[in-house]
Amino acid sequence: MKIAVIGKGGREQALVETLAGSPSKPELYTFPGSDAIRQTAKQIPADSFDGLMQWMVDNKIDLCVAGEESYLVKEEGLANRCATLGIPCWGPRKESAQLEASKEFAKDFLLRHDIPTGMAKAVADYDEAIAAIGGQYPTVLKFDGLAAGKGVAVCPDAAAAEEFLREVFIDKRFGPGRLLVEEFLTGPEISIFGAICDEHYLILCPARDYKRLCDGDEGPNTGGMGAVASRQLATPEVLRTIEERIVAPTVAGLQKDGLPYRGFLYFGLMLTPQGPKVIEYNCRFGDPECEAVMPLLRGDLASFCLAGAKGEFKPELISFDEGWSVCCILASAGYPASSHSGDLIRGLEDCGARVFHCGTKKTEAGWQTAGGRVLAIVAQGATLDEARTKAHEEAAKVDFDGAQRRSDIAYKNM
Ligand code: AMP
Ligand code: GLY
Repeated sequence: MKIAVIGKGGREQALVETLAGSPSKPELYTFPGSDAIRQTAKQIPADSFDGLMQWMVDNKIDLCVAGEESYLVKEEGLANRCATLGIPCWGPRKESAQLEASKEFAKDFLLRHDIPTGMAKAVADYDEAIAAIGGQYPTVLKFDGLAAGKGVAVCPDAAAAEEFLREVFIDKRFGPGRLLVEEFLTGPEISIFGAICDEHYLILCPARDYKRLCDGDEGPNTGGMGAVASRQLATPEVLRTIEERIVAPTVAGLQKDGLPYRGFLYFGLMLTPQGPKVIEYNCRFGDPECEAVMPLLRGDLASFCLAGAKGEFKPELISFDEGWSVCCILASAGYPASSHSGDLIRGLEDCGARVFHCGTKKTEAGWQTAGGRVLAIVAQGATLDEARTKAHEEAAKVDFDGAQRRSDIAYKNM
């Protein structure tokens, strides 16, 4: 079985290594890939989207696995192009990936299918936004498009809202687009991952990520500074409610709306006093949640994804360990406003945990930073305490100039 994994970060390395460990022993290929991923998967020698598609046809790739979201909505969409060329793709078509690419599309979908979510109003300009906020603070403002995790502002007061509205509508930081003004919700957050195959779904191991840069959930939002994963993150009752009120109606809604879906679907939820509500959908695995969840996976992920991409749902092929997994991210100087490349990474050989590379480069001098999030250090344990103690201890052995790391991953919000 030949599998191409699309993406270049820590999530994709975690997917590649888990696919590589499948008993079906697939041959792995990567695009655009990274030096770290190329330790396990062969580089696809393409320099464009067209080149990638042609190479997959010429080399008879059996399965294309979408890691990151951008390719799902690029041009005609990765899965759409795969379908035209007869390549099974684990990742949804462009029409369905609008659940992630457009906040307004997602909100309309949620309301249409009566799935619990915050109330919201879509607006087209600054004045409409101010009117929709109606002096109610805190308020949540969401740019209606892909913005690399930076398009959402939780605004405690008018000054913060006005600043974000200026960025969106006057400076056009994310380009043209509308905005959602959303009700401010409270409660612990949880990331639920579904593997969706048409009308079927399997709920994978839940996780929680830590989006703020600094300890105590302070500082700016980031792509994620760490994650904790375990079946035990939510009680069986909460998981049942999530399945009945959110996951099952979402899968049924996709069917009803004629939105084909085969791939991972990420439900970003808030466990509010009124029950779980959807904050966002992402049409792929979470990063860094994937780095935490994948080491808990048992079975044959490669055969599971291949079958699913062909419309055959085979949940019996995978399962998850009962224990805990904790992922600590090391980010480079300046992240998330900027990032710093070329800093030599020290201590990797002393680290006794699994290391996934989010943004690194291999040089003659050794591994160097090459991105905002640099490394994911991941440890497992039978108990939460065992997993988090090991993850933090091992992460502390790795360092580079300007490294940023939270010390409260899997302690805060637990
Ligand atoms: P998103 O990019 O949609 O995941 O939003 C980023 C973060 O903003 C979430 O992880 C939440 O912490 C916060 N957030 C999003 N929507 C809301 C909401 N309606 N109420 C409170 N916080 C929110
Ligand atoms: N960890 C959040 C995300 O992948 O979007």
